[in-house]
Amino acid sequence: MKVLGISCYYHDSAACLIDEGRVVAAAQEERFTRVKHDQRFPHNAIRYCLAEAGVSEGRLDAVAFYDKPILKFHRILETYFSVAPSGLRSFMKAVPLWIHEKIWIEPQIEAELERCGLESPGKIYFPSHHASHAASAFFPSPFAEAAVLTIDGVGEWATATIAAAEGNRLQLLEQLAFPHSLGLLYSAFTYFTGFTVNSGEYKLMGLAPYGEGSYTDIIRNELLDIKEDGSFRLNMDYFGYLDSLVMTSRKFEALFGGPPRKPEAPITRREMDLARSVQEVTEEIVLRMASHARERTGKEYLCLAGGVALNCVANGRILREGIFKDLWIQPAAGDAGGSIGAAMLVWYDELGNPRHADGSLDGMQGALLGPEFPSDQIKEFLDAQGCSYRELSDEEWAPTIAQLIADEKVVGLFQGRMEFGPRALGNRSIVGDARSPKMQSVMNQKIKFRESFRPFAPSCLEERLADYFEIDRPSPYMLLVAPLREEERFPPVGDELELEIHDRANRQRSELPAITHVDYSARLQSVNSETNERYYRLLKAFDQKTGCGVIVNTSFNVRGEPIVCTPEDAFQCFMRTAMDALSLGPFLLEKLDGPGSQGAGKRPPSTESNASRGKD
Ligand SMILES: [Fe+2]
Repeated sequence: MKVLGISCYYHDSAACLIDEGRVVAAAQEERFTRVKHDQRFPHNAIRYCLAEAGVSEGRLDAVAFYDKPILKFHRILETYFSVAPSGLRSFMKAVPLWIHEKIWIEPQIEAELERCGLESPGKIYFPSHHASHAASAFFPSPFAEAAVLTIDGVGEWATATIAAAEGNRLQLLEQLAFPHSLGLLYSAFTYFTGFTVNSGEYKLMGLAPYGEGSYTDIIRNELLDIKEDGSFRLNMDYFGYLDSLVMTSRKFEALFGGPPRKPEAPITRREMDLARSVQEVTEEIVLRMASHARERTGKEYLCLAGGVALNCVANGRILREGIFKDLWIQPAAGDAGGSIGAAMLVWYDELGNPRHADGSLDGMQGALLGPEFPSDQIKEFLDAQGCSYRELSDEEWAPTIAQLIADEKVVGLFQGRMEFGPRALGNRSIVGDARSPKMQSVMNQKIKFRESFRPFAPSCLEERLADYFEIDRPSPYMLLVAPLREEERFPPVGDELELEIHDRANRQRSELPAITHVDYSARLQSVNSETNERYYRLLKAFDQKTGCGVIVNTSFNVRGEPIVCTPEDAFQCFMRTAMDALSLGPFLLEKLDGPGSQGAGKRPPSTESNASRGKD
């Protein structure tokens, strides 16, 4: 029995296909259309999922959409009426779209599915947005029973929920309702500090360790009122999202010393301190919610999803505080992962199929659920481009790439199935030597064209994790932040707060400077041979060569673009940046004459022009 899950029309459209309860394919639409966070109906992702699952006769058993559009429309109407007559501009913008498109969603989905070649999609289900998030967190988890916490911007009405889950059942126990939303509070600060809402939240989190919590008490006292159980009420006088097209109000500006930072304007002390302060408040709320979920459900394990579950600093705190024995976070914790949750809710909760959790393996298969390209197709593409390349045997591959990394080369890795969710985990990654003092600035400025303050994440051999980091369990999806071990750190020199942000970012703080953040933390990916055998072999070969079990891993894309999907995307990204080598399946391409040339004599366009275009 096959169920198609769909999330779309708001943010990060995606589709997945589960067959007898097992996820066989999942992908985000942006990877195919090359439009970052594409929100349109995911035709390409659906076609891919159907092909991967071998659905050729145009028939499915069921389709699950990740929210209830009518309920969401009610919330939007009620919100407008509650603030009328202000809010007329956003009302005029949103409501016609709803009346023409979004509330007629069932016939629209049927028509769109027909365009994807599905004549008989089966029954269409509409579980709620947070039930989809909760299901995406629990059903693929290794736990037989767990507390489930979902936190995001907003679904229909809910902005956070607590559920108890057992076997194939999820029971919603509590919810926090719009407009009181931790996701929207974080997004308001994302907007105010000059980053893009719904994509810049990660940057705000990365900026936080540069600042001090000088606004923490002001946020706590003025903007919201946090209860013991982690629920809270926002003072809506400070926010714009009820009655205008911006996140924050004039009163917010007055409280935090003037208008928002303009995108691309210099980052000042104020932005760093705001980032740190809102991060502190976020962690306090998440910890209180997690403690309350523990008490309310009596469960010893926690599952997390919703956009706020991508705040890996807060996740790391939950673990360190020891509230639960263990936690599992849906790797596609944002709305893309809602497609998996919706489909699984139908399979387990609606259809009552049994669920078996073995306590160790999870159902996301390392998040390697996207398209894969056979070697002969890659070879055909490279030959058509007239490239010179080397074909590496399976034995040669890992030591050759490991040597390139040890020689401080920046290498694009393209292999196997594409990752589902926002993180690249070794199959669509750019990798480099974490020991190199220049690696962070080279990768930020010449490869990714992104802000120099942002740290890179390490991939570490799972068995060597404790040699470098203060963590006692794997982090396969790069969703936990942990401190570097004391003995790995270099002591701080002088008062850093006086330095410019990029000088602080580039200061060498450990033997692994490229992945050590200013507060000595790192956003970890642990790698074992079961989930990604080939990537594991690369790390192992690097360790054998250098004695270091860690490399830098960043997603294979440039700023503002989705992660690469096809060999063509990877090749184009390689040619447009100062990347030194590209490993495309078994084929290796090197820019032999340094940046600016490639083996076949092709010249990439100027990196300067890319840098100036790199807005997001
Ligand atoms: Fe959501």
